[in-house]
Amino acid sequence: MSSTKPLLVVLGATGNQGGSVVAHFLSLSSSPYALRAVTRDPSSAKAIALASQGVEVVAGDFDDPNSLDAAFRGASVIFSMTDFAQSMMNQSLLEKAATSAVSPGLYIRDYEAQQNRNIIDAASKVRTLERFIYSSLPYADRLSEGKYARVYYYDSKASAEEYGKSTYPELWEKTSIFYAGFYLENYIWGTKDLYFCPKWNKGKDSLIAWGMEPLTTFNWPWYSVVQDTGPLVAALIRAAPGKKLIGVNEWLSMKDISKLIAQILGKDIEFVDSGPNFNQGDPDFQRSRREMVGFSMEFGYYGDKVDTTVLKPSELGVSVQLSPVKEWIEKQDWEKVLPAE
Ligand SMILES: NC(=O)c1ccc[n+]([C@@H]2O[C@H](COP(=O)([O-])OP(=O)(O)OC[C@H]3O[C@@H](n4cnc5c(N)ncnc54)[C@H](OP(=O)(O)O)[C@@H]3O)[C@@H](O)[C@H]2O)c1
Repeated sequence: MSSTKPLLVVLGATGNQGGSVVAHFLSLSSSPYALRAVTRDPSSAKAIALASQGVEVVAGDFDDPNSLDAAFRGASVIFSMTDFAQSMMNQSLLEKAATSAVSPGLYIRDYEAQQNRNIIDAASKVRTLERFIYSSLPYADRLSEGKYARVYYYDSKASAEEYGKSTYPELWEKTSIFYAGFYLENYIWGTKDLYFCPKWNKGKDSLIAWGMEPLTTFNWPWYSVVQDTGPLVAALIRAAPGKKLIGVNEWLSMKDISKLIAQILGKDIEFVDSGPNFNQGDPDFQRSRREMVGFSMEFGYYGDKVDTTVLKPSELGVSVQLSPVKEWIEKQDWEKVLPAE
């Protein structure tokens, strides 16, 4: 049955950011939007689950501009995202990178930037469009004047953002930018070794956490990508266009989070000062991770020491209700999640 409601088209709807946007609007007693999810595979279990909840599911691929034109047809709002991490683990892309003149990280950066330009080109053609929400990150290379030129997963999004702004001024008048904060879920998904995640010190029935100062005492912008992206993006849609929002729930250090986990488990925790593990396979990606940390410490996670245009949720002028980070931490099964030393 066709809906008379304006249409919200969500990229990455089977993933974390886009999935949270869809879940938020589905959770409302009366969603202001009809929802369309874009996926490469409408027959996947996640896509079928969305369709069973009344979401229109269509095929679309960031690498295929024609498919994006079709997926965006009739949209009032588009939520756009791209995924650096999947590309970074894609063997066929890494093989192409190996035969190219540039490093794997640069290759994937440029690949993701092209995907974003494809999305922006397609969005610029949608006559019905009222709002384009672009999930970006700060332009580390530009903001640091070349000092941090290898924060690949930031610049892949930011360079395309610059492209959109200069190529399509009309589209940019209807655009709002979302910078995702650090996912709390990094603690419970595969990257936990990277984030000062505590480990079980089984012999002592206590926790132990390694980390290097000041990485572990620096306040990062944490948010739950699953719970919080939807409410934050919904608020950004309600606010006037032209705003940039940092998706943050609370600013906490990794030490703060480890202490909260220990407190919830009722265990002691020992902190050991040592080098962080940036093991991302290729040394080029490890260096990129180190540069991201360096950029964040010197210029702010979202470049806020030099770019004062990025707003915190409390500065958006539209109310956003997020559950406290402590509640998110309390809900996780840390007994199972934390690895043994
Ligand atoms: N981890 C963090 O702390 C953090 C913080 C800030 C920003 N980020 C950024 O967040 C992004 C990842 O977002 P996420 O966590 O929402 O990703 P995710 O859960 O891995 O989901 C990726 C989504 O992208 C879709 N997708 C991937 N390639 C596609 C293509 N070629 N065409 C169409 N759809 C495609 C997938 O859909 P189908 O598979 O169904 O096609 C899926 O829905 C990364 O770029 C990363 O840089 C991460």
